[in-house]
Amino acid sequence: SIELKVNALLARMTLEEKIGQMNQYNGFWDVTGPVPSEGDAANKYEHLKKGLVGSMLNVRGVKEVREVQKIAVEETRLGIPLIIGFDVIHGYKTISPIPLAEAASWDLEAIKLSAQVAAEEAAASGINWTFAPMVDISRDARWGRVMEGAGEDPYLASLIAVARVEGFQGDDLALANTIAACAKHFVGYGFPEAGKDYNTVDVGTSTLYNVLLPPFKAAKEAGVRTFMNAFNELNGIPATGSAFLQRDILKGEWDFQGFMVTDWGSINEMIAHRYAENRRQAAEIAITAGADMDMESYAYVNELASLVNEGRVDVSLIDDAVKRILRVKYELGLFDDPYKYLNETVEKEVIGSKRILDAALDMAIKSIVLLKNENNILPLKKNGQKIALIGALANDKTSPLGSWRIAADDETAVTVLEGMQAYKGNTLTYEKGADVVTGETLFPKELTINVSDKSGFASAVTAAKNADVVVMVLGEHGLHSGEGRSRSEIGLTGVQQELLETVYKANKNIVLVLNNGRPLTIEWADEHIPAIVEGWHLGTQSGHAIAKVLYGDYNPSGKLPMTFPKNVGQVPIYYNHKSTGRPLNPGQGEVFWSHYTDVSNAPLYPFGYGLSYTSFGYSDLKVEVVSNDKVTVSVKLTNTGDVKGKEVAQLYLRDEFASVTRPVRELKGFELVELNPKESKIIKFTLSEAELGFYDNDGKFIVEPGAFSVFVGGSSDATLTSKFELK
Ligand code: IFM
Repeated sequence: SIELKVNALLARMTLEEKIGQMNQYNGFWDVTGPVPSEGDAANKYEHLKKGLVGSMLNVRGVKEVREVQKIAVEETRLGIPLIIGFDVIHGYKTISPIPLAEAASWDLEAIKLSAQVAAEEAAASGINWTFAPMVDISRDARWGRVMEGAGEDPYLASLIAVARVEGFQGDDLALANTIAACAKHFVGYGFPEAGKDYNTVDVGTSTLYNVLLPPFKAAKEAGVRTFMNAFNELNGIPATGSAFLQRDILKGEWDFQGFMVTDWGSINEMIAHRYAENRRQAAEIAITAGADMDMESYAYVNELASLVNEGRVDVSLIDDAVKRILRVKYELGLFDDPYKYLNETVEKEVIGSKRILDAALDMAIKSIVLLKNENNILPLKKNGQKIALIGALANDKTSPLGSWRIAADDETAVTVLEGMQAYKGNTLTYEKGADVVTGETLFPKELTINVSDKSGFASAVTAAKNADVVVMVLGEHGLHSGEGRSRSEIGLTGVQQELLETVYKANKNIVLVLNNGRPLTIEWADEHIPAIVEGWHLGTQSGHAIAKVLYGDYNPSGKLPMTFPKNVGQVPIYYNHKSTGRPLNPGQGEVFWSHYTDVSNAPLYPFGYGLSYTSFGYSDLKVEVVSNDKVTVSVKLTNTGDVKGKEVAQLYLRDEFASVTRPVRELKGFELVELNPKESKIIKFTLSEAELGFYDNDGKFIVEPGAFSVFVGGSSDATLTSKFELK
């Protein structure tokens, strides 16, 4: 068995070789070219040859991976293969929608397939392990990395976490087209104060247990092989140095048998946090806390051996970490054939293949959310229309790829312009209007957000005047969201808002297509613009997907996985908030209740919201308490419109009174249903212990008797309701 093999190998390893397995280096040199003669790179190369490296990240492509794997396998004493990691976040070379957009599909099968084809492409390129899924919950659209998660809700995010883990890892990790997944960032990274990336995180136990941890637990239960800890501190302890998180919860209570990799340099960052005085202390804290593999801190490789020799770190901690790492390498089949992922023919065949492009398109169309459609301005007519397409993002071949798509080449996305040009029956005129970014758009440079040039407005106005319908593609560039890209204002960037208002004066018949990696504040647009389509950053096939929805070849079915605020002052805003002691508006002019003076408490668009080209009705809600831990709910869903369409029927639960205050409502079930016009279906939900209970402040899961309300409908503000009581 794998355990016997792991133990036998461990018994042959020197302390240095063990620590080597715990060391991960970033790819750094052109392995086919000359090796750098000085600095870290040269050291890394020497370390690799001596068996002091267990993993590399950002080495990719069969040729490059083979070069490093060959050194590990053929030149080191024990020949232990490397595990090759990479951020396969939403696709590898063929890019699928950003994860937040995929979450908007609420289509778990599609999301699983998207992860599966991403794994296939990455594996064909020599990669064994992705640093995904990111399962951090976030309620703050200022945080740039909301694009990488599944939104604000722990129930939806948990199911999506499972779908992604299953997609990446498949049924058999040892197959050459599956890769190990990584649930990150453990934990709290999505709750930085003021939405500023890497900032302090301070959350109470109730939120930790009920909101932040569940998606990680779901990933663990789905068999995720690795976890990544986080840059942030949580309640005063950097996550990388937290034994409470890594040893007590993850490896203790949850009995996780895979390994924990640190985030990039996060052992060293404990010095900047002023938690460790130096790298040596940081290494000691991290290993004691349960971090198994050091990504790019150079802390373990340089400090651990002497810490062990001086008796500061027990060798059993090292042995435990190494076993975990070796276990995953065995599970991946790397010991059977370290080169099994390395086949140039497969690489050529798989990457960018039609099957993978089709999957990316399918995922992209399912991710689009129709936010507004007054007077059925959409879908567009296919013939005889004069259409003006306006906006730099409509003609940008890089932006739709979004953030976190390192392996994809720039300029490889289908633009909205190209997507619409494929429909030949109309006359299409394109005008940029204004730039969205100026200068370089190269990762990882900061983008220029303060674009002020309005010289293109006049031509945009002329085009709008001459058009029957104006399609405007506005939002934020793909690299305006993502890691390190927090924003304090979350409207349309640069002069795009002004452009929108200027064009509106010329022609009010506007379809606004948003391109963005986070909820945006678009209150003005919602008030004035008749049709709004949430088109996210949809990846390689973006323009085709958007055009298909605009022309009605796909009836939009997405629902928002994150609340859209009216203004940035409402943030953090989320549907599953608490009641507070002063929840109600007591009447006009009253002051002392929980609200703002200048904006209502309601969001612009709630969680779970999304329209269709048809309409749906809910009726006949029935609730039956089968036992104290089983309640069944049924509802009749009818397509009340004229075209076939899909609806996400959502069930929300409210625990009326509890020993720890509970949210006003929480998603506890949903079903994606397709119905023909006038067709109905009875949707059935079962609420069992997992849905009825919650974690108390000691982290214990409990179900309490008492009154509950259910709400069923097409969004988190569903009004069809019923009550039941648990004894
Ligand atoms: O996986 C990422 C992580 O999410 C952020 N820091 C770097 C890691 C590796 O690229």
